[in-house]
Amino acid sequence: MLKTYHITTFGCQMNARDSEKLSGVLEEMGYEEIDSESADIVLINTCTVRENANERVYGHLGQLKNIKKKNPGMIIGICGCMMQELDEVEKIKKSYPFVNLVFGTHNIWKFPKLLQQVLNGQKRVFDTVEEINDEADKLPVKRVYQFKSGVNIMYGCDNFCTYCIVPYVRGRERSRNPEEILDEIRRLVKSGVVEVMLLGQNVNSYGKRVMKDGVITDGSTITFAQLLREVCSIDGLERVRFMTSHPKDLSDELIDVIASKPKVCHHLHLPLQSGSSKLLKKMNRHYTKESYIELVEKIRKAVPDISITTDIIVGFPGETDEDFEDTMDVVNKAGYESAFTFIYSKRTGTPAADFPDQVSPEVIKSRFDRLLTRVQEIAAEKTLIHVGKEMSALIEDTDDHLDGYLTGRLSNNMVVHVPGDKCLIGKIVNVRLNEAKGFYYLGEII
Ligand code: 5AD
Ligand code: SF4
Repeated sequence: MLKTYHITTFGCQMNARDSEKLSGVLEEMGYEEIDSESADIVLINTCTVRENANERVYGHLGQLKNIKKKNPGMIIGICGCMMQELDEVEKIKKSYPFVNLVFGTHNIWKFPKLLQQVLNGQKRVFDTVEEINDEADKLPVKRVYQFKSGVNIMYGCDNFCTYCIVPYVRGRERSRNPEEILDEIRRLVKSGVVEVMLLGQNVNSYGKRVMKDGVITDGSTITFAQLLREVCSIDGLERVRFMTSHPKDLSDELIDVIASKPKVCHHLHLPLQSGSSKLLKKMNRHYTKESYIELVEKIRKAVPDISITTDIIVGFPGETDEDFEDTMDVVNKAGYESAFTFIYSKRTGTPAADFPDQVSPEVIKSRFDRLLTRVQEIAAEKTLIHVGKEMSALIEDTDDHLDGYLTGRLSNNMVVHVPGDKCLIGKIVNVRLNEAKGFYYLGEII
């Protein structure tokens, strides 16, 4: 009989990549992915960066409980960042007895073994011990897209921004050995990949502590810019993206590689978080309003057609009207092609959770609405600039909304919808951008 699985993934690209590994393991064990949660194995790969991410997981578990009533043999597993938090693991242990398997990001490499224990009849398997090694890189992978792939270049984060839980759940920063990364990309290219996204919480500090065969060595041997150059020299690879860049570590050398290497996509995700130098200091971000604006100007001068996107938090403790105006000012000056805006979420265990002057929800809401409106206006203006131009696009999928249309991604990360046959999926084609529709284009293949 067909054995099936389903994975729900919350959070960032790193989690998406981890889920591809979970799929890889399950496919090797003979399971087939289905689009519904009435599967034999259902996994939730969690995110914990904001409180509402956790709430969604518990909501989801409520639904799964009902499904399991009809199918008692079903295996429910939870993994990811939230399972690196001991309180949450305890809560699952006590209040969600129908969950069979729990493991964190550090021990995803043990997934085959842990699942086997459940399959052998153990009712509940919890394994969230902190054991860092590079075994996860050896897991089989089932890619969502055949023609593009994420590639982890480093794990963890040492920046300890005061609002952020990531350094606590993802552990200390460690970079993968460059040869291993290049080998992985060469293999991906051989199997049909034309675009890679290099992944890390702060790719600009790549190379500081390199991990080889599970051993971590201090001392920089290679910078991110050098790694990017090496990646560009891989034959058959057409495009390289990377995520995320911390403004404090973005080097001139990197700007030079973006400007000079045609394979590097002209998109930079450069989280601002706040435009107020006072708050940036409280956030432990190590840059100021002025230095951030200077950096954006320098990048735009070196790479005029680059799109710069960002993350902004509204309502960090102590945020005054003046601080918020600074954020609006940077938004206006930086002219983001797109921005993710977040309401500050108090994460227990982070320093900011104990900061005084938490901002009231009403004030946050009105600031948030103003910011979002402005961000969308600027994004729409920015999109208009390229109307009429010809650009290359990687065709990623059929369009969900327009029959006979395909969805392509431009080098600058914007999306274009073009009429065309689905045999073009995975191909890089030239398109003309005919019409701007807010944050995407309608165009045609030329
Ligand atoms: N509250 C709100 N947003 C947060 N982020 C990280 N931690 C928090 C928090 N406690 C946002 C940051 C980060 C993005 C991935 O999530 O903007 O860049
Ligand atoms: Fe969190 Fe800051 Fe690390 Fe990003 S750089 S993951 S915001 S601590």
